[in-house]
Amino acid sequence: MKKLTAILLIMMMVLSLTACGSKTEAPAADSGAAPAAEASAEKPVIGVTIYKYDDNFMSFVRRAIDSSNNDVATLEMNDSQNSQATQNDQVDTMISKGAKALAINLVDPQAASAIITKAQAANLPVVFFNKEPEASVLASYDKAWYVGTASAEAGIIQGEMMAKMWTDNPTWDRNGDGIVQYVLLKGEPGHPDAEARTKYAVDVMVEKGLKVEELELQTGMWDSVKGKELMDGWIAKHGDAIELVITNNDGMALGAIQSLNANGYFDSGKYMPVFGVDAIPDALEQIKAGKMAGTVLNDAKNQGKATFELAYNVAMGKDPLDGTTWKFDENKAVRVPYVAVTIDNIAFAEEAYK
Ligand code: GAL
Ligand code: CA
Repeated sequence: MKKLTAILLIMMMVLSLTACGSKTEAPAADSGAAPAAEASAEKPVIGVTIYKYDDNFMSFVRRAIDSSNNDVATLEMNDSQNSQATQNDQVDTMISKGAKALAINLVDPQAASAIITKAQAANLPVVFFNKEPEASVLASYDKAWYVGTASAEAGIIQGEMMAKMWTDNPTWDRNGDGIVQYVLLKGEPGHPDAEARTKYAVDVMVEKGLKVEELELQTGMWDSVKGKELMDGWIAKHGDAIELVITNNDGMALGAIQSLNANGYFDSGKYMPVFGVDAIPDALEQIKAGKMAGTVLNDAKNQGKATFELAYNVAMGKDPLDGTTWKFDENKAVRVPYVAVTIDNIAFAEEAYK
């Protein structure tokens, strides 16, 4: 286990170095996601699906895809409304409408092969983003790529942040037994991000020497309302025995905070450390209000930008990375790095969502 974590940490460091490289060059790329010289060429249609518009984080990725298009392409945006059948129909429609490339945020991470079958029949390139297909499926089609993150990285960063802050704040161990009694709100089961974040957040705390006890772990499906409902139930059951709230995303963390507010926390000195992932603007507000201890920036802007740039390139028949600063790993995936966010670097995170 230690060895695996070490390998992942090295991967992270390499990724952040790559990120530094791309940051220096970002202004030039920002000012025109696609090279200006292309503006006179015919605008290709790019078919885009979002697994559901009603997902807080994905609304920022969608906005970033849109704003990366400086009128060099026509984007056909589709809300798949959390239905893979709907998404499959949308893909058929976009193909028949003459899309030159597809950018697909799967509903079901297992459905990549079905989309690839459709794309391949039409000889169309496809850029998957945010929900990572299995590596073997991606490898099965030479015109398929992925833009996202290294899922485990968010869990590792969150785990490190929690371990450090737990150690720095002895009062967080409310019952003084030297054990972290935690509850965990998980994202969609089977989603690579949810699985890896859940595993590594806890593994890293243990690796850093903390003793932990899981009081509850359930899926809140990335959703704030579900997060609140689960937290309501857990407070009713465990009361003050809960010492730490771990969540796979800020949406669910915001729901948990609503529940904690209603149960008298963050008032008259009663505190609960809550940790999320994404660093969406609403979560940053909670960090500033002292109601959220930390989150992990999931860089919506750069994931949207990379998705657009790759899709545009392949729609124009070019190499996916042509004229960009992105790099592929061995799985044909561009992985945008995560960054730890606490009150200490909040301004940086606010900037990332502008
Ligand atoms: C994750 C993100 C979640 C949710 C999910 C959807 O990367 O952290 O908030 O948006 O993607 O697939
Ligand atoms: Ca304890």
